Amino acid sequence: MFDLIVRGGTLPDGRVTDIGIKGSKIIAMDQLGSAEAEQVIEASGNLISPPFVDPHFHMDATLSYGLPRINASGTLLEGIGLWGELKQVMTQDEVVQRALTYCDWAASMGLLAIRSHVDTCDDRLLGVEALLEVRNKVKDYIDLQLVAFPQDGFYRDPTARENTIRALDMGVDVVGGIPHFERTMVDGTASVTELCEIAAKRGLQVDMHCDETDDPLSRHIETLAYETQRLDLQNRVAGSHLTSMHSMDNYYVSKLLPLIAEAEINVIPNPLINIVLQGRHDTFPKRRGLTRVKEMLAHGINIGWGQDCVLDPWYSLGTADMLDVAFMGLHVAQMTSPSEMQTCFDMVTTNNAKTMGLTDYGLHVGARASLVVLDAGSAIEAIRLRAARLQVVANGKIISQTPRPDAMLSILDRPASIGRRHNT
Ligand code: FE2
Repeated sequence: MFDLIVRGGTLPDGRVTDIGIKGSKIIAMDQLGSAEAEQVIEASGNLISPPFVDPHFHMDATLSYGLPRINASGTLLEGIGLWGELKQVMTQDEVVQRALTYCDWAASMGLLAIRSHVDTCDDRLLGVEALLEVRNKVKDYIDLQLVAFPQDGFYRDPTARENTIRALDMGVDVVGGIPHFERTMVDGTASVTELCEIAAKRGLQVDMHCDETDDPLSRHIETLAYETQRLDLQNRVAGSHLTSMHSMDNYYVSKLLPLIAEAEINVIPNPLINIVLQGRHDTFPKRRGLTRVKEMLAHGINIGWGQDCVLDPWYSLGTADMLDVAFMGLHVAQMTSPSEMQTCFDMVTTNNAKTMGLTDYGLHVGARASLVVLDAGSAIEAIRLRAARLQVVANGKIISQTPRPDAMLSILDRPASIGRRHNT
């Protein structure tokens, strides 16, 4: 007797199976015939995916678009300045409420694991307090991992170093950094070293905003790879953005990529944001600013798409939909072959789960019973359609249901949409 059976779903690798769930675990992955369950989801060939995972987000800033004003230039630096203004006036309750609203959006999109940076440059650590509260409130349905992020510079901001350590003492999970924003290259390098040492000493992971610039000489990723190996932090360090690699000399990159691979650094490009923020100082040709995704995949580096922002000082759109992120990444990185498109789906699920160090993730016996039923027949079709999340299951419980868009159209007495799925 199962608590929940999902019948006849198509897995991302194309296999068709039933999934039997008891409590919060998957206990069977097979044809379950006439087995009974308290609840049954008839997947009928629909795609069943493990939950979407976003390894790079800013939940303390989300849903604040327009507060206290809009980013007029659209640049990263004006966004940082604007966020500095907002930090002075926002309240803890406002941050909590916006973050909880965002978590509702995320759950409805099947996004059940999020790594959020939280700014540690405010002496009150108001955002840290707020997101620790949110992490606890959503823990039954979202794995929220927090990164202590000295937005204004670990050394550049006068109290960021002390406050970042305080935030870790308060229970923030991961050590962050922003070496390219320190006053000098030397300070940036020193910040990478000290932050990695802090992580090693505390047994924590590292996730740095690293080289988020169009300057090809911003090479902090090299130091991050070096410190990762020196301190035995392999597979526990992530480099977020790495946009300077877009503009680097090819010869240097040919030396750099094996160093990143050796150090087992996880990489997180954020295509929605990189395509919007980078290249702002260019005339034409105008750089895309995305890091070298296909080249890193070819070197066996674990890399996954992050979302970064939704409706905040840096980005004026967004819906918590990791399929939007994969769709944009696929275009900007020109990952258009069938295997590359499939990889883009893996990059918002399994690859990101590896980056976050999630255990019991995936669709297999013994895994946590969290999954998404999508209105699509395959992973590629899910990206093409940014398909509806028909059911979202978290820890064995159905937490969200969305009607098929065609069903909604018929309710509205309008013709069915053109170009939808081919498998029905
Ligand atoms: Fe970020």
